[in-house]
Amino acid sequence: MTKQLNDLFDFLRFPSISTDSNHVSDVRHCADWLIQKLSGMGLDTELHETARHPIVIARNTHQADKKTCLIYGHYDVQPVDPVELWDSPPFEPEIRDGKIWGRGATDNKGQMLAHILGVEETLKEKGELPVNLIFLFEGEEEIGSPNLVPFLEKHKADLACDVIAVSDTGMVAKGVPTMGYGLRGITCCEVTVKGPSGDLHSGLYGGAVANPATAVARLVASLHDANGHIAIDGFYDDVRPLEDWERKMWAKVPGVSDDDTLAITGSHAAFGEPGFSSAERLWARPTAEVNGIGGGYQGEGSKTVIPAEAMAKFSFRLVPDQDPEDISSKVQAHLEKHCPEGVTLDVEVGHHGKPYICDPHSENGKAGQIALEKAFGKAPVLIREGGSIPVIQDMKEILGVEPLMLGLALPDCQIHAPNENFYVENFEAGIQLNRALLQELA
Ligand code: BES
Ligand code: ZN
Repeated sequence: MTKQLNDLFDFLRFPSISTDSNHVSDVRHCADWLIQKLSGMGLDTELHETARHPIVIARNTHQADKKTCLIYGHYDVQPVDPVELWDSPPFEPEIRDGKIWGRGATDNKGQMLAHILGVEETLKEKGELPVNLIFLFEGEEEIGSPNLVPFLEKHKADLACDVIAVSDTGMVAKGVPTMGYGLRGITCCEVTVKGPSGDLHSGLYGGAVANPATAVARLVASLHDANGHIAIDGFYDDVRPLEDWERKMWAKVPGVSDDDTLAITGSHAAFGEPGFSSAERLWARPTAEVNGIGGGYQGEGSKTVIPAEAMAKFSFRLVPDQDPEDISSKVQAHLEKHCPEGVTLDVEVGHHGKPYICDPHSENGKAGQIALEKAFGKAPVLIREGGSIPVIQDMKEILGVEPLMLGLALPDCQIHAPNENFYVENFEAGIQLNRALLQELA
């Protein structure tokens, strides 16, 4: 195994699950490993404590005549459940079929380490970098980056830069370099509906009192009309219409037809707002999704019961120029309006993130495209992303620079799911991409 793969395996062995309080020290050990790796490369490192997981910074010696390039990544990962569905243990990485398997392989350790190793190769070869470099790595992306925004505000002057690069997004298909120029935003909430003071016999009381599970089902059903159009008042008010050039360009992007979407997801039919292709629905239209729903008896066989309470978790993906706070209040008003009588409704608002869009043809954008072309041997496609990285828009607002998104995640990489994987080929291309990127940006 190469030294570079060995580094990735070491990095992947830390169960740095940010959401799980049982893993606080694993997240910390992972940050310590990064500090060691980065200082071993001759960079100046800083570990910044936060209320939860540390932020890692590394820099070379800056020179007044060079451009400053900030590279962002996250070293925390998602939980592994359901762990029984993994073909190999999530934190014991291995290579099978040309892929590295393990939690974080793609999201985001593999992509992040490609940045680091691109820098390491350049340093070994040339003794210095063509840019002033700032690495900014956080351990809280998967929980909504609660401490990064205050950190950015506080250290704004130290983080001043000319360009920001991030590899935490996708490629539309293997071998097709992809530059993202947009991300969806997000707002989440959880509803709890309560009825009787305890579970009831459904024969003794069914028909005479409201059933909380039915109420939750009604709320869920109230979010869309039969065509998949979101039925919340004012939800689409600020949605920026797709531009003609984007529709034309996206129609030619490989890997994102309705059929591709079906094949990748294993779904039975493409479904969504009428009048939009799968790519348009994913990249330029907002959504209302149920992420979880529960209540009542879930065990084997039947149990005749009226549950005392039921719940659902919702997330809404947002596009420019929707505002998460505004949508969150429209959602709450909608839920209150549609909650049936005879139960109580409690809405707990979760995390927010703004949508992001930038000009892919800016000077930095062009440099990013050339670097992708150098690494992959062909010109990149330009897309927006369906996923969210809230801190990208925050960085744009606070540091005044539009981050470039040079993603390496493939549609079958299974991020956030069992059997997450990263092609060795993409890891290697990612290292070359980062070398080319520093050169082009300089
Ligand atoms: N790297 C992903 C986001 C992503 C993946 C964007 C692939 C585009 C393509 C990131 O780690 C992530 O999962 N973000 C969360 C948001 C967060 C607020 C929990 C998401 O999109 O659900
Ligand atoms: Zn993620």
